Amino acid sequence: MKKHYKYKETDKMSDLICEDYSLLTVMSRFGLSLGFGDQSVKEVCRTQHVDHKTFLAVVNFMEDGQFQPEDLEDSEFSIEALMEYLKRAHNYFLDFNLPAIRRKLIEAIDCSAANDVALVILKFYDEYVGEVRKHMNYEDRRVFTYVESLLKGTPPEDYNIAVFARRHNQINRKLNELKNIIIKYYPQKGSNNLLNAVLFDIYNCEHDLFSHCRIEDYMFVPAVLQLEKKRQNEK
Ligand SMILES: [Fe+2]
Ligand SMILES: [Fe+2]
Repeated sequence: MKKHYKYKETDKMSDLICEDYSLLTVMSRFGLSLGFGDQSVKEVCRTQHVDHKTFLAVVNFMEDGQFQPEDLEDSEFSIEALMEYLKRAHNYFLDFNLPAIRRKLIEAIDCSAANDVALVILKFYDEYVGEVRKHMNYEDRRVFTYVESLLKGTPPEDYNIAVFARRHNQINRKLNELKNIIIKYYPQKGSNNLLNAVLFDIYNCEHDLFSHCRIEDYMFVPAVLQLEKKRQNEK
């Protein structure tokens, strides 16, 4: 029996967003713009030249957190479209979200030389962003370039997706430490509003990075493994 997927191509795109507003970020990472009226998922995707099967595979994965080998067959998503989605997500984190959190942090904490904890927080954050940049640059330059050549049928001999899968690590954990430093040790004076706002952003970012990594581990890697096998059999 076919698995029941929550979201279908005939659903109204606006209903998806009402159901779960975090899907707004998924939409923008697929390059989908708002203002689609009452169009269905399939219609919005077709009008905006996005592969609707890949979009649905991602939103359904975000919904139930599971992706089994049979989902790989059922969803028929495109590796190219998923890779484009992952690249856009990298740009979002590196060029928008993480710099925005830094600006908010500086606004929320007292960075005068007298405040040691504030300086520790900022230093910790900058080191963390450096690690995320390294992680994502490696994926952009090494992994995606490899997969592009695999798709073209000319993969290099010295690399395969298992190398990536082995070294791929979670990048959201350190944000948890950062939250703990702020919550436990930042000597707050006055209003909590700014600091709370930045903590909420950090919680969201942590969750967002966690699901980003899961898409790479549970959707991207198995699909590339399958493509590698297919290429092997073609030889
Ligand atoms: Fe990534
Ligand atoms: Fe990653």
